Amino acid sequence: MSITIKKLGGMLGAEIYDVDLSANLDKTQIADIRRALLDNLVIFFRDQNLTDEDLVRVGKYFGELAPLPPHRQNPGSQPEILVVEKKPNDKLNFGYEWHSDTTHLPIPPLGSILYALKVPRYGGDTMFANQYVAYETLSDSVKDTLDGMRAIHGNGRIMRTLEDKVSPVRGQEAVSAAWSTDTSSHPIVRTHPETGRKALYVNIAHTQSIEGMEINESQPLLQMLYEHSTQNHFTCRFQWEKGSVAFWDNRCCQHLALNDYPGEHRLMHRVQVKGTKPI
Ligand code: SIN
Repeated sequence: MSITIKKLGGMLGAEIYDVDLSANLDKTQIADIRRALLDNLVIFFRDQNLTDEDLVRVGKYFGELAPLPPHRQNPGSQPEILVVEKKPNDKLNFGYEWHSDTTHLPIPPLGSILYALKVPRYGGDTMFANQYVAYETLSDSVKDTLDGMRAIHGNGRIMRTLEDKVSPVRGQEAVSAAWSTDTSSHPIVRTHPETGRKALYVNIAHTQSIEGMEINESQPLLQMLYEHSTQNHFTCRFQWEKGSVAFWDNRCCQHLALNDYPGEHRLMHRVQVKGTKPI
């Protein structure tokens, strides 16, 4: 093993040591990091010193990078970088509800790599929840009910909620209408393309309804799944420092960025690795 792995919790999450992401990684290191991601669902690196070019290079070790919404793109030289920022006067932060990233898209990302440039003096942790265990701990009756069911995912509610409560990276006029109105249908239980394990695949931020049902008919079942899937004992919590990196597998975990640092500034840069159609 070319890396050192220290588990952060019993359900998911591990810190990875002995890797300098600012240097070129060799095939063994990349394979070991990928294995660590598959085994732990989310992995963390400390004390990194990355340029945007480094972050893009690291992302590309794990696949093609995913396209970004126009209003979140880095105004700088690397368009693949997504800016996650909460300024001191902003009321809300991106990702304050439990979610998997951009499940309103037909092909949501495989995963995201988030790098901390500026962290608040306190707060601003990110939580992650294991969606394999969320599925496995459902009763057989509920598993049978969910078999073959699909849900519709959208982004409109989040876009409307964040409007005026966060500073846009670019002018709000640059928000593409498609990113707020697009919807996609995904299986409620997806099979991970690399591990073959089944994971629950609904989230309160994006999932709107169960396919073939009205919104009010869908809500009781979806609400039960949201609560079930994010129970404290399925989670781990990461406390950021400047230079920390998190790499999560969007196919089998949800995450939530805590909004508990009013008046503070938090700035992260992220790349997203392209995924495959959920099946
Ligand atoms: C996100 O939801 O992608 C942001 C996570 C974070 O800021 O910790």
